[in-house]
Amino acid sequence: MENYLNNIIVTIDGASGSGKEKIAKFISRKYKLYHLDSGLIYRRITLFFIKNKITVSDELRIKKTLNNKIKINPIKHVSLRNEEISRLSSIYATKKIVRDFVNKQQRIIVKKTLKNGKGCVIDGRDIGSKVFKNAKIKLFIQVNVKIRAKRRHKQLIEQGEKSIYSQILKNMKLRDKKDKNRKHSPLVIPKNAFIIDNSKSFDFTKKQLNEIFSKL
Ligand code: C5P
Repeated sequence: MENYLNNIIVTIDGASGSGKEKIAKFISRKYKLYHLDSGLIYRRITLFFIKNKITVSDELRIKKTLNNKIKINPIKHVSLRNEEISRLSSIYATKKIVRDFVNKQQRIIVKKTLKNGKGCVIDGRDIGSKVFKNAKIKLFIQVNVKIRAKRRHKQLIEQGEKSIYSQILKNMKLRDKKDKNRKHSPLVIPKNAFIIDNSKSFDFTKKQLNEIFSKL
């Protein structure tokens, strides 16, 4: 099975807080695939724009920055996961120029990884619908927004951060709206995607995943 999964692309799309990262990590470990978290690239760019005071309306500076090929590594950093970056990244992500830049970065990384004989699992919002339309397996993760907000709230409290459930729910609904209604690459269920219900236990999620992968 593991050998067979070499060189394949698995895409995972879903709304914020739907558990894409956990699912991607599980698949990556089990089938020895490289995990690329596209949201992290949006978050890193957002952090760069904030640090350099480049506002979302400053088209010219955004363009200049991206044309200068800023170094954006999809490496996790704890500060990238805060609510402020979450909110702002979904705003910068509405810009076509930003999306084109991120998509190009992803294609370069995936091409290189496949060339080295390793398959990839990529998670985001438009991965199966736009960036890697011909992926072997496309997954779409579904979880009700109230469950997603409750999980996020619990996680923040456990991390010792301040959190107000109603505020988290409000922010999440806002991000959903932005992701689903934006002009460029809105969040949609990709054609031929398997829908995964991640609202129950993770064992239940794993059972659904195992069924899909066992049919390969
Ligand atoms: O997945 P994550 O929450 O880390 O992504 C941060 C933001 O980047 C999302 O709110 C979304 O607006 C945007 N994003 C996107 N397309 C992707 C991945 C993330 O628009 N493929």
